[in-house]
Amino acid sequence: MTVAAGRWITLEGGDGSGKSTQAALLTEWLEESGRTALRTREPGGSEVGRLIRDIVLHHRGEIAPRAEALLYAADRAHHVATVVRPALERGDIVVQDRYLDSSVAYQGAGRVLDATEVRDLSLWATQGALPDLTVLLDLDPSTARRRLDADDKPFDRLEAEKEDFHARVRRAFLQLAAAEPQRFLVVDAGADADDIAVLIRARVALLL
Ligand code: TMP
Repeated sequence: MTVAAGRWITLEGGDGSGKSTQAALLTEWLEESGRTALRTREPGGSEVGRLIRDIVLHHRGEIAPRAEALLYAADRAHHVATVVRPALERGDIVVQDRYLDSSVAYQGAGRVLDATEVRDLSLWATQGALPDLTVLLDLDPSTARRRLDADDKPFDRLEAEKEDFHARVRRAFLQLAAAEPQRFLVVDAGADADDIAVLIRARVALLL
């Protein structure tokens, strides 16, 4: 299903790849250029989503992989229906930290569920909504881990996964980008944050 009027940009990448910094810089730039931008995220971009986020990131103990996939899909269904779609219908530019590609990479490649089934679950949840542009911040997991260590915050459930989990996630993101080159912009997340922001702006400018 097409979502009309506004523009929808998602940022993807492994933990510690700098998505939040880039989402903030992009939103600031859009607002300075006179656009109405909405910055949001998954999981947790709605009130219901914040409850789900707390379960998927902070529940102590195991969550079965299919239950985890359904929790992310439930967050997504509610977020798209109540936050993203209304914003796009108003003509806003939505800048979103993570979307369905994260489910394909983390629940598909990471937890080893079937990638097509995971993607189809999200597409069902959102009535087929896909972003206009997805920026993939690509970074090798060991550099990402060093950044997270330097942050000095306790790891959440996903961050705490081993390096081979994060290596599978990275490979899956790159495969997704290669399969849809017109939707994805892949950037080297090891570069300077301001240089990355310039690359992202140049691509976003083509969308506006
Ligand atoms: P973040 O908001 O810090 O990026 O944390 C969200 C975590 O949830 C991150 O480790 C990636 C993970 N995640 C999934 O596993 N599947 C998903 O569909 C989404 C949106 C996030």
